[in-house]
Amino acid sequence: MLETLEHALSMDFIPQFAETAVQFHVLVVDADPAMRSACSQIAASLGYAVESTGDMTEARSLLRGHTSDILLVNLPAGNNRGIQLVSEMKVLYPETAVIAMTASGSVAAAVEAMRCGASDYLTKPFAMDELSTVLDRAAQNHRTETKTRRLRERLRHSEGLGAIIGHSVEMEKLYRILSKVALSTHPVLVLGESGTGKELIARTIHAYGPNAQKPFLPVDCGSLVPTLIESELFGYVKGAFTGANRSKDGLLVSAEGGTVFLDEIGELSLDLQAKLLRALQEKEVRPVGATHRVPIKARIVAATNRDLADMVERGAFRKDLFYRLNVVNLRLPSLRDRREDIPLLAAHFLDVFSNQYSRKFTLSDTALRTMMDYDWPGNVRELQHAVERACVLSSESMLNLADMPTELREQGLEAERATQVNLVEIGPDGALPSLKNLADLERDAILNAIRMLHGDKLAAARLLGIGKTTLYRKLKEYGIADPLRQG
Ligand SMILES: Nc1ncnc2c1ncn2[C@@H]1O[C@H](COP(=O)(O)OP(=O)(O)OP(=O)(O)O)[C@@H](O)[C@H]1O
Ligand SMILES: [Mg+2]
Repeated sequence: MLETLEHALSMDFIPQFAETAVQFHVLVVDADPAMRSACSQIAASLGYAVESTGDMTEARSLLRGHTSDILLVNLPAGNNRGIQLVSEMKVLYPETAVIAMTASGSVAAAVEAMRCGASDYLTKPFAMDELSTVLDRAAQNHRTETKTRRLRERLRHSEGLGAIIGHSVEMEKLYRILSKVALSTHPVLVLGESGTGKELIARTIHAYGPNAQKPFLPVDCGSLVPTLIESELFGYVKGAFTGANRSKDGLLVSAEGGTVFLDEIGELSLDLQAKLLRALQEKEVRPVGATHRVPIKARIVAATNRDLADMVERGAFRKDLFYRLNVVNLRLPSLRDRREDIPLLAAHFLDVFSNQYSRKFTLSDTALRTMMDYDWPGNVRELQHAVERACVLSSESMLNLADMPTELREQGLEAERATQVNLVEIGPDGALPSLKNLADLERDAILNAIRMLHGDKLAAARLLGIGKTTLYRKLKEYGIADPLRQG
């Protein structure tokens, strides 16, 4: 998948950024004065701010003074000081693009430089436009990297309605890919169980993308009958069918460069799959009842909770359409695979509903603890509903286990029956414990249970009302190697 991603995100797919007034800094390092001066002059003529030196030590102090965006460094034959500098760059200034210059016949040095993190190389002698090409390529990559990094930060710190909540490793991975994907206009396939946030992610891709000001148009392929999907997507002409009193553009046309979100794409009939494929290949559609074709310009984001690859195997989904939609795919983690995000999500929805119902809600520790152990087959949507239901039902501001849906309540009661140790002290204000607190309490409860049972982890898991694997996972998470000795 990474390969496809790299491919999709290679420069020609990234929309050209408007040239900004930001000037890129280039540092030229070459002991040969003539070469140094020629490279510097060329770079300066291209609009770069240039510094140069013939000495590695001075190069290091220049870099310490202010990091360059691009380092153009000669790798002299017979010593490895240039390679050393390239390796250091990766660690000290990972954002700087490194271009290595080698004498002809030193392919090995160029390969080594690339292995150490150089992004490009030039073999001497080279022509002026070769240098200008690699410099521009490095600058373009630098711009993309910077944009991606900023976007990732925004995603990570987004708050409020429509924000993506989660700081787990799985979500961090998702932000990394999302921040790159959003910058391109390529098709994206969003995969994930029901309620994992597929639509939220699709909207985010659009909102952070280059055409955010254009429309985002969702089509639910799961709930509409095929004829309706066809006329929705491709449009129709007056008189095409009973009730078509006037012509109407399809969503693929009216998106005008925006995003068409094909939700539940796995439900699309084979006949419509063929029509959609043709439309995407030819970049035009034939409205229902029309003889003419209309050009389309839309980014396609599709989502499904079905296993599309398996459907392709079974002949239920067209392979060619699958490949066209699956240029980049984002697989959303299920909530039980990122349990550490449950308190964050719970707190987020408490906020949302506190605002909506103009009452301040908090969660009891038992309720939260039960939520953390529950498997959430309906993922974030199920959690959101559980919190909302409790807010509606509860007459008090603190939501208890009793206000939760049956499945959760049953699990909580079971755990309570099995747990004869008092796991958690409820704070005097009954407020939602902070993440750290909760983790500490859970860690203590696990340690206590194992100690009480003289190290019998299996019995401890039963006592705590959690599975054996959950217990082992938690021991690992909390870095507890030896529970009987751990402080
Ligand atoms: N990471 C998240 N942070 C905050 N809210 C989320 C997150 N993931 C999902 N949600 C919320 O959960 C609800 C369900 O999300 P969404 O509709 O995007 O899921 P889905 O995968 O499309 O579900 P389905 O398969 O049922 O259509 C929405 O209200 C959404 O805002
Ligand atoms: Mg959905």
